[in-house]
Order: sequence, then structure tokens, then C-alpha cells
Amino acid sequence: MKCKKCGETAVIKLRSYNISLCAPHFIEFFERRVLGAIKRYKLLSPKERILVAVSGGKDSLNTWFALKKLGFNADGFHIDLGIGDYSRKSREKAEKFAHEIKGNLVIVELKDEVGYPLPSLIKRERRTACALCGLIKRYLMNREALKGGYSAVATGHNLDDEAAVLLSNLLNWNIGYLTRQSPLLPSWHPRLAKKVKPLCEVTEKESAAYALLNRIDYIHEECPYSRRATSLFYKDIINQIEWRSPGSKIRFYREFVTKGKHLFEEKHQEETLVDCPECGLPTTHPPCAFCRLKNRIKAETS
Ligand code: AMP
Ligand code: FES
Ligand code: ZN
Ligand code: ZN
Repeated sequence: MKCKKCGETAVIKLRSYNISLCAPHFIEFFERRVLGAIKRYKLLSPKERILVAVSGGKDSLNTWFALKKLGFNADGFHIDLGIGDYSRKSREKAEKFAHEIKGNLVIVELKDEVGYPLPSLIKRERRTACALCGLIKRYLMNREALKGGYSAVATGHNLDDEAAVLLSNLLNWNIGYLTRQSPLLPSWHPRLAKKVKPLCEVTEKESAAYALLNRIDYIHEECPYSRRATSLFYKDIINQIEWRSPGSKIRFYREFVTKGKHLFEEKHQEETLVDCPECGLPTTHPPCAFCRLKNRIKAETS
């Protein structure tokens, strides 16, 4: 297997593009795809300050690495959720990586924020881990971005993640989610940072190869609360379609974002935001969900 660009030994075959590439040319290909998505979807401008939400997994560490390499001004942010060994290892990987790339990394511990780590919160709140964790991450990412003067929060969602969510939302005609599924969620309030997904056009396999070739040490384990079964099922179906018809995955996602999404937008209106009386951040139902969570904990423990 020879690299299509230079004829050296190839390290990866990309069926979707019908090419094989050597290590340096694959790295170049990957970074060009990231920059391509940034330009196509107008995710970021060159001077912006970006806060990359890093979990310690390959996708978010790759996001930080590639953005810095492409010349963007990007710092890292990690939330230590306190999920035993899993969080310890995740944090270690994020810290080690930040040190290696000489990047600024801010770490926030959930325990310091609300008094409890995620496992105890799940028991107290009797809500699913994902719902609780999603609420906490969204809030803290936005708060840290505003605190540090960043205009954008970047997450590591890749094409496989995005295509699986899209398929699931389409199968259920989940119009609300469909209108919001985008690599760019613009800021629509002065205290709401925009959210971007620079890896939205690279696949899981490409992301794993990029981390490997750049010797990025990341956490391989899944969060113990993760309920990936459905998402893995959708990813598998999309990969089967991709195998039969190379290029389908990126077409499915890109055409939705550039054309399909607008079909739903007429009906969609952003909800009105008001200031949370307690923390000052925008919310649809004051006090905001994070402050309500803190208040419940305070009431139960006092
Ligand atoms: P997930 O919801 O676990 O698939 O994660 C999606 C994205 O959220 C990751 O690619 C990261 O950018 C971000 N993220 C997940 N967990 C954390 C964390 N503990 N701290 C900071 N960012 C995170
Ligand atoms: Fe959120 Fe596991 S990372 S529940
Ligand atoms: Zn080559
Ligand atoms: Zn609040």
C-alpha cells in the first residue's frame, strides 16, 4: 500500500476518499479537514480566543492539538467529575497533555462546585447520569469561557458522533434537536459563549489514527455511566452504509447541515433568555438549573 501523494509506504487507507496515505500526508490531510470544516461552517476566526473542553479522550485532545497547530489561540478546560478511577485517569491525561504542549489548562472540580462528586449527586438527585452530567458540563463550560474572556467553547465531537445523533433524531423526528444539531451554535446572548465542533468532518477512525501518529496519550476507557449501546448501534449501521457506498457518512451529515436543517428552521425560534437571579448567567427558567441543583443540595444538608 503506497501513499497516493508521495509513493512512500502508506499507514492508512481511507476508503471514503479512495486514497492511502503515509503518516505525514495523513496528518496534513486531517488538519486540512479540520480547517475545511472551520471555514465551511464559519466556526472560528483566526484571532478568537477558544476554550477547548478536554475530557482526556482522543477527540478533545486532538481538537486542542490540531487547533494550536493550525495557529488558533486555544486553551484547555477540564471538569473533574469525581467518578473514581475514571476521573482520576482522565484528569491525569489532560494534565500530562497540557504540560507536553505547553498549553494553559483550567481544571474545575465538581466536588468544589456543589459539594459532591457525580456518583453521590446521581444518588441524591435520582436523575440519569447523562442528564445531570450534561447540565453540569454545559453550565461550567459556558461559565469558564465567560470568566476567562473566551468567545468560543470547542468540543471534540467527531463525524461518527454527529452522524449517529442525526440518524437517531431523524428516526424519531425530533424537530427541536434537529434544529439545534449543528457544528456551530452561535451565541445569542452576551453571556452565552458560542459552541463549535471542529472535528465534525473527521471520522472516529481518522481521529484514532491522528492521536496515534502524534503519540497523544489519551484515556481509552469509557465513563462507567456511559450508555453508548444505542449510539454504537447507529454508528455501526452508518458504517455498514459507508462500506457499501463510500462517502455516504460525510454526505449525510454535511448535506443536512448545509441544506436539510433549514427545512426545520422556520418553525424554530430561540427561547427567550433571562438572567439567573443567583449566578447572573442566562437561563430560560430562573433560577437556572445549576443554581436549582445547588439550592436543593443546600436545603437537604442544612
Ligand atoms: P461526551 O459527551 O463524553 O461524548 O463528550 C463530548 C465532548 O464534551 C468531548 O469531546 C469534550 O470536548 C467534552 N467533555 C466531555 N467530558 C468532559 C470533561 N470532563 N471536561 C471537559 N470537557 C469534557
Ligand atoms: Fe458524564 Fe459519564 S461523563 S456521566
Ligand atoms: Zn506521503
Ligand atoms: Zn444560576
